[in-house]
Amino acid sequence: MKILAKTLEGLEHVLADEITSIGGSNIKILKRAVQYEGDRAVLYKSNILLRTALRILVIKKEFVVKNEQQLYRAIFEIPWETIMKLQDTFAIDSTTNSEVFTHSKYVALKSKDAIADRFVKNFGKRPNVNVHTPTYRINIHIRGTKVTLSLDSSGESLHMRGYRMNTVDAPINEVLASGLILLSGWDRHSPLIDPMCGSGTFLIEAAQLALNIPPQLKNRRFGFKKWKSFDSNLYDSLWEGISKEIKDIPVQISGSDKSLRCVKVTQQNLLEANLSDKIQVIKKDFFKFHPPKGSTIITNPPYDERLKESDINQFYKNIGEKIKKDFHQTNIWIFSGNLDALKYIVLENIKEHSMMNGGLPAKFINYDWR
Ligand SMILES: C[S@@+](CC[C@H](N)C(=O)[O-])C[C@H]1O[C@@H](n2cnc3c(N)ncnc32)[C@H](O)[C@@H]1O
Repeated sequence: MKILAKTLEGLEHVLADEITSIGGSNIKILKRAVQYEGDRAVLYKSNILLRTALRILVIKKEFVVKNEQQLYRAIFEIPWETIMKLQDTFAIDSTTNSEVFTHSKYVALKSKDAIADRFVKNFGKRPNVNVHTPTYRINIHIRGTKVTLSLDSSGESLHMRGYRMNTVDAPINEVLASGLILLSGWDRHSPLIDPMCGSGTFLIEAAQLALNIPPQLKNRRFGFKKWKSFDSNLYDSLWEGISKEIKDIPVQISGSDKSLRCVKVTQQNLLEANLSDKIQVIKKDFFKFHPPKGSTIITNPPYDERLKESDINQFYKNIGEKIKKDFHQTNIWIFSGNLDALKYIVLENIKEHSMMNGGLPAKFINYDWR
């Protein structure tokens, strides 16, 4: 089957690498998505194992239409009765970027009618719509006159891992955190530290990566588990294999934050992720922090609407000076959405990745101090 994994801008290549490692083939990198092929095992593994995917769609039909009648017809012609049962429910999400189809809600309505009418014609009855918890979430994407119709196999967005019990101001998205760790090329066993750890997202994602802990839980309510085609034996046997790969070894991952509340929140999240015995978190000001030689530091400082611009620029300038003074022989990565303030970290040996964060441009910058 044809599969589409959605991601955040800037993470397409790391996602493609992850897809290769779980057996996806014919991989094509798109904008904020990667398309590939795979069987049912690859589909299930995509949902369970891909750290940088937000959602996994199964492409059912790609077609070109010139008007709404053709759209209706093309959707009506799909043998929906082989996909879903009368008792199932469905919902339609649509996005359009087209001069012909300008209203996505109207596209969704037409598509819903086409599916319902096919059932009524064949069985005199139709499945109901349920926008919140449907059996099948159908995704219709129109670009110009090209339509892609897919089934959403994930359900809730995959960035929701289930360990974030409590949060702080501006926590980083879990998919983004994982993607940044992968982009940094961290070797998964040398020390990794986040000295402004907030709710601990980098620490948890890094530990899961180092220990081969899947980003999702076995009992997660994936969309595909409700499908007629769900193969629970395959799902269980995949988990058996995945569980055998999990390592129970010490990791050298630690964090700190100047706020005691953040330290407590991180500890709660670590507990929820079953990692509290592996990772140490303490209250410490970044400017009093001395990293051990050979460590990788990945952090996202505040970028902060609540601080005045002059203060935030000075704060970033101080970060740069601190690195220059005390971070010898370390590999430092800073993620920030404040592109102006980042310029105040005046250091050499820069490598940078342009990213997006919540719709805003951001950068992930490496000051390699080794
Ligand atoms: C954008 S948040 C980090 C969010 C974090 N990545 C997460 O996933 O929740 C920035 C963090 O920097 C911390 N911070 C600000 N100034 C600091 C300092 N001087 N020393 C240590 N931590 C600091 C804040 O308390 C806040 O938790």
